[in-house]
Amino acid sequence: MSKGEIIAGLLAPHPPHLVFGENPPQNEPRSKGGWEQLRWAYERARANVEEMKPDVLLVHSPHWVTQQGHHFLGVKNLSGKSVDPVFPNLFRYKFDLEVDVELAEACCDEASAMGLTSKMMRNPNFRVDYGTITTLHMIRPQWDIPVVGISANNSPYYLSTGEGLEEMDTLGKATRKAIEATGRRAVLLASNTLCHYHFSKEPIPPEDMSQEHPENYDGYLWDMRMIGLLREGKIKEVFRLLPQFIDEAFAEVKSGAFTWMFSAMDYPELPGELHGYGSVIGTGNAVMEWNLIKAGLAQAA
Ligand SMILES: [Fe+2]
Repeated sequence: MSKGEIIAGLLAPHPPHLVFGENPPQNEPRSKGGWEQLRWAYERARANVEEMKPDVLLVHSPHWVTQQGHHFLGVKNLSGKSVDPVFPNLFRYKFDLEVDVELAEACCDEASAMGLTSKMMRNPNFRVDYGTITTLHMIRPQWDIPVVGISANNSPYYLSTGEGLEEMDTLGKATRKAIEATGRRAVLLASNTLCHYHFSKEPIPPEDMSQEHPENYDGYLWDMRMIGLLREGKIKEVFRLLPQFIDEAFAEVKSGAFTWMFSAMDYPELPGELHGYGSVIGTGNAVMEWNLIKAGLAQAA
């Protein structure tokens, strides 16, 4: 088996509004559209992922919360209905997905070997969370690439931010080892919003874009500062500022996916390609790509 590698990482946030705005057949609620800038951003990201021909998509979601350790989807075929508990009016999605169980098991084993509490999820009737589903749908609506789903242990919320993110750094290193050992060409998806201040009331209808804008100006400025650094490839500086960004912008990157992804890629000082930025119920969302093939750090298919 040839050595596997990570071919790209994407910041791929999961507001269910984006799926709602697209009206795919899998989602029950209907909309007149909305959040187009972000949906067009995902269209650009999709075209690039298509070109990379990955064997597998790995996604870490803040909304599959496991208090004890880091869990991995471990059933080959999972199907059912995923409902967003906060926005059941927008997201009731019939999913049917294939898991790369061999890679998931390798990730789980490597994580254990590196001292993390980790576990395979073997419940055949498991309801996959809306964060995982939304990110995967927006990146690959055809659902024809196997996936690895990783839970959020949320350690940064009950340990300190620093300790929690250190665990996510370890999880990233374990993920990279597993990908290399199993020979996969892998794309990583960090399912995270940036500034997470949000409105507490929806407009009627929810997709009324005349009502959509950043909830918090300081949070918006933080997003612009971080995106600016990411576009310049100043990754060290981004991670130096990350704890302050998390505190001051209530950023969802606290849940760890962003750190996991960059750790797995070994924190390349590489300019990210911004596909687009937009607000969703006031939160700040960016779709960004670090393409390691284009950067000469990974092989083309
Ligand atoms: Fe979220």
